[in-house]
Formats: sequence, C-alpha cells, structure tokens
Amino acid sequence: MKKNILIVPGDGIGQEVTAVGKKVLDAIAKKFNHEFIYDEALIGHVAIEVTGNPLPDESLAKMKKSDAVLFGAVGHPKYDNDPSAKVRPEQGLLKMRKELGLYANIRPIKLFDELLSASSIKPEILKGADILFFRELTGDIYFGEKGRKNNGDTAFDVAEYSRYEVERIARKAFDAARTRRKKLCSVDKANVIETSRLWREVVQKIALEYPDVEVEHQFVDATAMLLIKDPRRFDVVVTANLFGDILTDEASQIAGSMGMLASASIGDGTGVYEPIHGSAHDITGKGVANPLASILSAALLLDISFGLKKESDSIINAVDDVLKAGFRTRDIADANTPADKILGTAAMGEEVLKLL
Ligand code: IPM
Ligand code: MG
Repeated sequence: MKKNILIVPGDGIGQEVTAVGKKVLDAIAKKFNHEFIYDEALIGHVAIEVTGNPLPDESLAKMKKSDAVLFGAVGHPKYDNDPSAKVRPEQGLLKMRKELGLYANIRPIKLFDELLSASSIKPEILKGADILFFRELTGDIYFGEKGRKNNGDTAFDVAEYSRYEVERIARKAFDAARTRRKKLCSVDKANVIETSRLWREVVQKIALEYPDVEVEHQFVDATAMLLIKDPRRFDVVVTANLFGDILTDEASQIAGSMGMLASASIGDGTGVYEPIHGSAHDITGKGVANPLASILSAALLLDISFGLKKESDSIINAVDDVLKAGFRTRDIADANTPADKILGTAAMGEEVLKLL
C-alpha cells in the first residue's frame, strides 16, 4: 500500500513523541511491505513563532492532501498565563478540526493489564475496563459565538448544536457499539441545558434504528462519578465536545496515565491521530515523555484510515510485550519498578521497535 502521511509534531513533547510514532510507522512499512511517504507541517506555538499564524495555510493544504495526519500536541505556558493573548496555539488545533470536518473524536480507554497498579483507582475496580469514547469535536461551546460585553466586564460563549451534528456522531457511536458489547451511554445535561435536550431527543430517535444496542442516558455529573466508581459498566460513551474533553481526561486515569492514550479524529476527509496528552512543557526537552500514546496513535491511524488491522495489531501487541517485559516510562512506573527498567522517550521507542 502506498500512502502519504503528514507528520505534525506541534509543541512541547509533541516533537519528541511524534518522532517515535513516525519511526514505528516506518518499521511497519518495512515489515509489511508498504510505502509511506512523509511530509511535515507546522501548527501551534511553533507555527506562530515562524509565521505568526497557529495554522498556516500551507499546513492546512498539506493536511487536506495527505491520507492521514500523525499529530503531536499544541500549547505553550506563555499563553496559558496571558488570557488576553489574541493569537493562541490552540486556535490552530480548533481550526484544523473545523476545516478538516473532524467531527468524531474517538478515544479508546483500555487498560493494559500490566498497568493495573499504575492507576490511582483500585485494581479490583479497574480490571477489564474497556471504554470507547465518541466525543463530538466540531460544535458546542468550543465553536459558538464568544465575546465580551459591558465594557469587557461580562463574557459569553454560546453552545450550539444542530440536529444533523448530533445525528452523525450518534450514528458513529451506535455503529461502534454494534461491533463491541452493544451498550451505548449517551452523556448530556438535559435537565438544564437546551443543547443537551436536543442531544437526548436525537439520540433517542437514532436508537430506534439500533434495537440491538442497549442505550442509557446519563447526566454528565453522574457520569463523572460512575467512571471512577464502576468503570466496567461502560462500553461505548457518546457525548458533546466540552463534556467529552473533561470526561476523557478523567477516564485516562483508568488507563494508568494520560501518556498511554491515543485518539483518532475523523470526519469525511483526512483523519488525524494524536495522543490525548498535551504539550507538557514541564517535561519538554528532558527526554522522559511517554511515547506510547503516539505509538498507539500510529496504530489507530493504520487501522482506521488505511484498514491495516494486522499491522495495527502488531503495534498494540509490541506495546503489550514491552510492558510485560517490565519496561516503563516515568509516568507509568511505580514503587516496585526497578530503576533500570525506567526508560526515557527514545529508549522506550527502541524497545517497541525491537519487537517489530
Ligand atoms: C484536547 C485538548 C484540546 C481541547 C485543547 C488543547 C484545545 O484538551 O484535545 O482534549 O480542549 O479539545
Ligand atoms: Mg482535553
């Protein structure tokens, strides 16, 4: 198979981990006789530094042309501490999502058995947890009208959803539930928020097309509690953009660390694959970031965008074996991890590559 893959490392540890993800794609190409052609593009703070624009037109054009994007992270503390900055790295990410029509953000929360003790949740509650999140990604309060009034003393962000936007993400989630344990939990705040009432109405209607899938509706506050209390009760979860952002960070603790979680953002065109962790400037440049989320993002890319299931599984198995062999990055190590098994970013990548 011949494919064009765009590497978009972005900011902070995005650079370090994406380099490893790319190496893994390379190893797969060699092993399975594919030809992957790479190009690179700028986004986020690094793009602002060079062009003044968090998503230069050239980057966007390259994304639209490529068959898939392996993405790192965006963000820089400089902007986090300056709420008045007009140009911000995150604008690049949001524009990319909107322009590529990436309305479905798929975040698999799966715990590798070897990491049971890396989580702050008790192993007996966690064992076997396997949740697939569908977070809507191009609507909601993220993209509605926002601004200031009353001389800047009042601020507003409008949350908006159309029936069509809810329908298409709901269908994606129902389709996925059919291939799994056939359970779908739709999360909203329909007791208070109007967009949530539309959300629930639409999901109820789509549910009629999927009589084989068991559906429940939960409020987001209750879901936040249930994820920690009894994560195994969830199979597929579908929710709006902001709720999904928050709940998936919470759910990452089920997988032991944010450093383990990959995600796919898909729509009608090019798919984007990225770790769910951010740019992590506190550890940037130290060579200690966990590259496994980027490696697992590469696995998702091969599976979802290229239909290369065997290749994807070989990456997941390699990650599993590396963990079984006892290797850990700092974020997933615990008091029992021997010092010589705690690896940096590149060394962890090498262990995975050896097995490929
Ligand atoms: C994520 C991130 C982004 C989001 C930020 C960086 C804008 O938290 O992908 O979850 O809020 O969507
Ligand atoms: Mg987030």
